[in-house]
Amino acid sequence: MRKIVTTLLLLTAVLFFQFCSHSKKLAAPVAVNYQTNVLPIIQTSCTPCHIAGKGNKKSLDNYLAAKDNVDEILARIQKNPTEKGFMPAMHDKLPDATIAVIADWKKAGTLEK
Ligand code: HEC
Repeated sequence: MRKIVTTLLLLTAVLFFQFCSHSKKLAAPVAVNYQTNVLPIIQTSCTPCHIAGKGNKKSLDNYLAAKDNVDEILARIQKNPTEKGFMPAMHDKLPDATIAVIADWKKAGTLEK
């Protein structure tokens, strides 16, 4: 009986702490930044054209270039695929959630990390 009570107490404690660390994350979200959030999108969706050493278009796989071009990047990924200048060229439009990451990155101040 005592064993069961101890086990239950331990279990409750574990669940409690998991819940706490989870809500902590929600309370202080890390701002959208280039290294964590933007670079993976560029590496996946703008390759090979905008990857240094792979494509011959402006490299966007470095922080400064992406930051300097954030307005142009946003404008182009928000276009419709039939419009002139749409990016990613020759691909489907990016999902809204992906476009939102870039928009949030700009809003949060185009942080590097
Ligand atoms: C299949 C190749 C290809 C892919 C993939 C591609 N682009 Fe492009 N991109 C081009 C070409 C070609 C141009 C130049 C023609 C133009 O300006 O429309 C260009 C131009 C641009 C420019 C203007 C920069 C400049 O040189 O002045 C931006 C910004 C851009 N692309 C962003 C993106 C982003 C962001 C992605 C990924 C979401 C992407 N592109 C994916 C081919 C590509």
